[in-house]
Amino acid sequence: MSDIHGISKDFADITQTGPGTIGGRYLRSFWLPVSLSDQLAPGRAKPLQIMSEAFTLYRGQDGVAQVIAPYCPHRGTQLSTGWVEGHALRCFYHGWKFGPDGRCIEAPAEREGFASNISIKSYPTREYLGLVFAFLGEGDAPDFPRYSDLEDDGIVEASEYWRDCNFFNNIENQCDPVHVAFTHRTSSFTEGGLTGVPLVSAEETSWGLAVSARREGGGVRVTQIGMPNMIHIRIVPATHGAEWGDLFAWRIPVDDVSHKSFNVWLHRVHGNAAKEFAAKRAANAAVNVPSVQEVGAAFRRGDLSFDDIKDHPDIIGVQDDIVQVGQGVVARRAGERLGRSDVGVALIRKLWLRELRALESGAPLKSWQWNPKLSATVGTSEAS
Ligand code: FES
Ligand SMILES: [Fe+2]
Repeated sequence: MSDIHGISKDFADITQTGPGTIGGRYLRSFWLPVSLSDQLAPGRAKPLQIMSEAFTLYRGQDGVAQVIAPYCPHRGTQLSTGWVEGHALRCFYHGWKFGPDGRCIEAPAEREGFASNISIKSYPTREYLGLVFAFLGEGDAPDFPRYSDLEDDGIVEASEYWRDCNFFNNIENQCDPVHVAFTHRTSSFTEGGLTGVPLVSAEETSWGLAVSARREGGGVRVTQIGMPNMIHIRIVPATHGAEWGDLFAWRIPVDDVSHKSFNVWLHRVHGNAAKEFAAKRAANAAVNVPSVQEVGAAFRRGDLSFDDIKDHPDIIGVQDDIVQVGQGVVARRAGERLGRSDVGVALIRKLWLRELRALESGAPLKSWQWNPKLSATVGTSEAS
């Protein structure tokens, strides 16, 4: 393992995802969520930044979402500032108009036929579970994966959060169940029965890895990790006040120093319980609280105490923000001392590096497949 400016090539490769990086090429070979569906009204466009690369996302007046190139090929202005017309987007600067396939269909000040020689990049785009997904890689898109656990009866809810650190800080955190005993010592996790320091094991699966946390006197909590950047857990959503629910999340680099998480919950509530749940959600949404990032940063500066943060409605988010950003914007891995409880962290690195080296050398990659038998479990005796 050679060192480049104090960061090993291995750690650089798993944390850097900009265009041309090996980690970026790998992540771009999957369908990735890029936006919440409800943040994009028909007839609107917005700029995106994903993996240090700019894109345009717009929703045609026909309701169809589309990801295309960020800048106009005429004189380079930002396309998301333009007008949506039907299912096309017209540039704000000189009115060139582009269809969802990227073809220029009008260049008003130019001679006839001029537009037909011009096109911009367009990316396969689809919507599922309240998220807009795009395939941002080269070549044909792989089959679009579906998750039947999220298609069960109940309330499906999509959300997102921003975190001011590299996405791999979060990926490693999700393979590390010991932190629940400390980071989330005061939270709905412990109220739900996840107390005590667990014994951790990890094994490779068809989808990624399964991380098991065995607690004395309790059951085994299994977290399913999907390669390259997903998680499936069963969790009590602190902000939502519901029963144990299923959470699937994707960690998406914005650049190498920040990321977003797109989260989809299935709340298994029905009938009257569903009505109560919706009312509780509306009440929570109406409460104005300082953001998780602000609270996390103030706590790390030493300006807030444990008592000051304990009633934050997203206390689990605050706690995870504190430790993940506290590791360094890109975690300080050089010099770290891994122990037996870090088997999940070690395995996710191993799988990523195995696939990156295969990609570099042109060897076949593993085709990761989710299936409903890879179930996440709660791991307490009260709820499973
Ligand atoms: S810059 Fe877009 S039409 Fe001129
Ligand atoms: Fe956590």
